[in-house]
Amino acid sequence: MATYAKGLEGVIAAETKLSFIDGEKGVLEYIGIPIGELASKSTFEETVFFLWNGRLPKKAELADFTSQIRQRYDLHPAMEAMLTSLPKTAEPMHAVRTLVSALGLHDPKPDAIDLPSVREKALTIFAVVPTILASFHRHRTGQPMVKPDKNLPLAENFLYMLNGKRPTPTMARAFDVCMILHADHGFNNSTFTARCIASTESDIYSAVTGAIGSLRGPLHGGANEGVMKMLNQIPTVADAEKFIVDKLNKKDKIPGFGHRVYKAYDPRAAHLKSLAEQLARDTGNLALFEKSTAIEAVMNREKAAKGIYPNVDFYSATTYHCIGLPLDMFTPAFVIARAGGWSAHVLEQLGNNRLFRPDVDYTGPHAVSYTPIESR
Ligand code: ACO
Repeated sequence: MATYAKGLEGVIAAETKLSFIDGEKGVLEYIGIPIGELASKSTFEETVFFLWNGRLPKKAELADFTSQIRQRYDLHPAMEAMLTSLPKTAEPMHAVRTLVSALGLHDPKPDAIDLPSVREKALTIFAVVPTILASFHRHRTGQPMVKPDKNLPLAENFLYMLNGKRPTPTMARAFDVCMILHADHGFNNSTFTARCIASTESDIYSAVTGAIGSLRGPLHGGANEGVMKMLNQIPTVADAEKFIVDKLNKKDKIPGFGHRVYKAYDPRAAHLKSLAEQLARDTGNLALFEKSTAIEAVMNREKAAKGIYPNVDFYSATTYHCIGLPLDMFTPAFVIARAGGWSAHVLEQLGNNRLFRPDVDYTGPHAVSYTPIESR
């Protein structure tokens, strides 16, 4: 007998070897390695190699992978022209969704779905997303575009292209760690979307385009921008308590809290909290961090018993603000990280594909007679 679970809660829809989550214990592993180990010891490029290949690279393999990514940093001139034709008022998430879709137009064989071809396409998407985002930001703010620096790692190069100057080593490392923490996370909505599209044997450009559309929703990756907007609405640390209690009394959800899977502290939030604190101290944003911890204290008192804790988006807001990202670049930063994870999932899906085609519980009427238009 088929059973119905609203929002597919608790439904296992596929197998994966990529990430493991224990929501009760607050554990996240990528292919068996605890996320904390990767955040403290790995780099974003190495983590993505790991996800795509199922094993950590040897030195020469990592050098080769990194070089293949860097060779693909540049934007095709036609893509650049398309980018500069976008309205300057467009949200970066809409811009990157449009441009990733357009990448497929410049691929002579966009529909090839053999694994080596998909891997090549994934490399291009992964490498060029930061260039798309930084270039769009320069375009909309009337600044000249900054060519990618092929000597820089992907995350640092994004900050360089965005601001026209290299970030401090602390900021570059902090952003790299953010990318590791956000790279993959089980069957979250956008990953499911990507795998759903890939399962039809459609192309990876379509899969990633769809995933970007999913990620931007405020219940998913868009929550990090919601957190920052909320922090901006709270004048001082002393106002946090009343602000949150008022919202909870109105049954509003607090962005950056709660998770479908975690009923314990999200391990990514724990790492981001210490990153946020360090960066806030370094950049004179301590009040922002203190507002965040004040919100967390209220939420802990009011909602921890229900298993509602900060999720990945809560402290990434302070972290990104301290790194100097504009507010509407927070969710796009998530795209940079997830492009690695989505691609790993598309490759995994195509390696052992079966079309996703769930059932639906029809709740409408039956045997209704057709009323001619004149009689309606
Ligand atoms: N603030 C206050 N209450 C909350 C919150 C929150 N952030 N999240 C859940 N709850 C409460 C709900 O009101 C509900 O209470 P009730 O049982 O009294 O009605 C209960 O917890 C269950 O909530 P649901 O929304 O049904 O849980 P679901 O698993 O569908 O939602 C979700 C998970 C969407 C993440 C939810 O917690 C939420 O909306 N959070 C805020 C948005 C957010 O931060 N999203 C990012 C998630 S992480 C990511 O996608 C990268």
